[in-house]
Amino acid sequence: MEFNRLRRYRVNETIRNMFAETRLSVKDVILPFFVIEGKNKKEPIPSMPGIYRLSKDLLVREIKDVKKYGINTFLLFGIPGKKDGTGTGAYSKNGIIRETALEIKEKVEDVVIITDVCLCGYTTHGHCGIVKKEKDGQFYIDNDETIKILAEIAVSHAESGVDFVAPSAMMDGQVKKIRESLDGNGFYNTRIMGYSAKYASGFYGPFRDALDSSPQFGDRKTYQMDYRNLEQAMKEIEEDIKEGADIIMVKPALSYLDVIKTASEKYKFPLAAYNVSGEYGMIKSACRQGLFKEKDVVLEILTSIKRAGADFIITYFAREAAKWLQD
Ligand code: PBG
Repeated sequence: MEFNRLRRYRVNETIRNMFAETRLSVKDVILPFFVIEGKNKKEPIPSMPGIYRLSKDLLVREIKDVKKYGINTFLLFGIPGKKDGTGTGAYSKNGIIRETALEIKEKVEDVVIITDVCLCGYTTHGHCGIVKKEKDGQFYIDNDETIKILAEIAVSHAESGVDFVAPSAMMDGQVKKIRESLDGNGFYNTRIMGYSAKYASGFYGPFRDALDSSPQFGDRKTYQMDYRNLEQAMKEIEEDIKEGADIIMVKPALSYLDVIKTASEKYKFPLAAYNVSGEYGMIKSACRQGLFKEKDVVLEILTSIKRAGADFIITYFAREAAKWLQD
C-alpha cells in the first residue's frame, strides 16, 4: 500500500487515549490568587470574569475548596491597603503577603505557596522597580537598588514559610541577589521560580486592573523583553539557571509557544509557562459571545502549552480545568 492508515489511532476515545502523546494533569497547573486586606472581602475583577480579589480568610476557604479537585500549588499576588513610592508594603512586618502566607500554612495542609516578588502592585507609580531621575529629567528604573529591595521582599516571604518566591520584575541579577540573601538568612530550602523570559506584552491588561498596577508614566519596555526576540530569551533563561533559579518561566504562553518549545528542548530544566490574564479574558469574552465552548478551548489551550514543553502551567482556568479533568 502506498499510504499509512493513521486513522487507525483515532477510531474511538479509548484508542485515542492510548495513543495520546501529551497528558494534561491537575498536577501541572498552578492557580494564581489576588489577596486584599480586610475580612470577608470578595471583589470581582470586571475584566476577569470568575476571578476575585479575596481577603485572606476567604482565600483560605477557597484554597481548601479547590484542593478537593487536586490542585495544591498557588501563586499569590498581594494588594496592599496603601501604596507608596518605594513599595514598602511588599515587605513590611505585617505586609499582606506575609500575613496571608502564615495563615494559609497554619490552616491548610499539603499546600505549595509561591509568592510574587515585585514592586508594581505596591508602588504608586506602578513600575516594577525603584524610579530615579537622570539629570536631564528622564526617569529610569534603578536596577541595583531594586534588586536589593527584591531580596528583602523575598526574605520577608521566606520568613512566613512560603515554598517558592517568584521574582517578576525582570531586573538583571535579581535571582542571584535573592538566592544570596535567602542563603545568608538560612533559608536554604526556599526555592526560586524565576520569571526568566517575561515579555513586555499587551496581554497583561486585566491583571493590571486586578492589581491597579499600570505604570503611571512610561512603560515596562526597558525591563521586560522585546517580543521580537527568541535568542535573547534563551540568554535570560541561561542567566536565571546560572544565578540559582529552581524553575524557569516563559510568559505569556500562547503567543510564545515557540519560546516554550525552544527552552524546553535546550535546557531540560523545570519550566513553567504563564497563561496570562489577557489570554484568560479573551477566552471568557469569546465564550460569552457564544463563539465556542469554554471546556473545549481551555483544555485544547492548556494541552498545547504542555505539548510545547511546559512542566507547569500557571492559569486562571486551573479550577475549571481540574474539574473537567476529573470528569
Ligand atoms: C509584574 C507582573 C505582571 C504579571 C504578573 N506580574 C505583568 C505586568 O504588569 O507587567 C502579569 C500576569 C497576568 O497578566 O496574568 N510584576
